Amino acid sequence: MNRQFSLTVNGETQTVTASPDTPLLYILRNHLHLRGARFGCGMAQCGACSVLMDGKEIRSCVVPVSATVAKKIVTIEGLPAVWTSAKKLPRDANTLHPVQQAWIDEQVPQCGYCQSGMMIAAVALLSKNPDPSAEQIKDAFTNTPPSPHLCRCGTYNAIIDAVQRAAIAMRRPVEQKP
Ligand code: FES
Ligand code: FES
Repeated sequence: MNRQFSLTVNGETQTVTASPDTPLLYILRNHLHLRGARFGCGMAQCGACSVLMDGKEIRSCVVPVSATVAKKIVTIEGLPAVWTSAKKLPRDANTLHPVQQAWIDEQVPQCGYCQSGMMIAAVALLSKNPDPSAEQIKDAFTNTPPSPHLCRCGTYNAIIDAVQRAAIAMRRPVEQKP
């Protein structure tokens, strides 16, 4: 039976009516029209649907909406605000999270299908390890729960470069604009 759920997504409280077992991914994409997280496998096996819940990476294809109440969800669309708020920067529509900027600078995406999950994983990794080695990045994307991140286009080497580029940018003092 459908019920009302109040969620915090990208800093905004949202109320949705859905069956309690509806995967968070469907709520994000179909109810809230946040289309960055993708449906890949639907079985917590590929990472395309990754979002952050209270700062931890989760597979939104298998987490029911009922488990997300009172949690803070961040999707790829919310990453710029995470960065500006952490660094006390003014909200600017053109500001990207350093991970997103590094993905552009390294020209990581090919088809792009997996990439929002990859960037979420990078943000989660850098929050725990601000200066990861190539081996640590590989490990985070392949062996670390909740599941490996799969890229059919084979962008893994570019991802390592982009994570290290983002790490440098995030460690640098941020210039405040006057
Ligand atoms: S779609 Fe969720 S892990 Fe593949
Ligand atoms: S860029 Fe195509 S699946 Fe990763």
